Amino acid sequence: MTAATRNRVAVMHGVNFDVLERRDAGLYGGRPLSALEHQIEGWARAARLEPIFFQTNHEGSFVEYLHRLPDIADGSVINAGAWTHYSRAIADALGVAGLPAVEVHLSDVESREDWRKVSVFDGLVVRKISGKGAEGYREALEVLARELGVSA
Ligand code: DQA
Repeated sequence: MTAATRNRVAVMHGVNFDVLERRDAGLYGGRPLSALEHQIEGWARAARLEPIFFQTNHEGSFVEYLHRLPDIADGSVINAGAWTHYSRAIADALGVAGLPAVEVHLSDVESREDWRKVSVFDGLVVRKISGKGAEGYREALEVLARELGVSA
């Protein structure tokens, strides 16, 4: 890759993803986040993307990571968990980051409770992918690779 290549992708997980293996396996797969990240890393490298991973349960830390994002990444894949549905602070910070972002949800948020159908990221993300489990991340990486002009 040349110095001008834009291929760094931050894969960001929000609240409760540190205990992913303890959450409803029917919805979230029953695996630890480390296993999911390992799989995502393989897909990213196959797509010639450089992934970096981040997870926090602290909204302010998520916001501050988004503030730093333009220095460390060219795009992002974001699963903010429950924050997706109400954190205007995170939505504003994503706007500040100003990089292409894809929103991912393991479960099908459109077919669950009404409050999960709302996303603060509407209009800020290139694509919203939900209900495809881990595969949703592969699709998100493909979308970002196209967006960044990276071909495998
Ligand atoms: C989730 C869906 C959210 O509604 C929920 O709060 C999560 C996980 C998903 O990946 O399906 O924490 O983002």
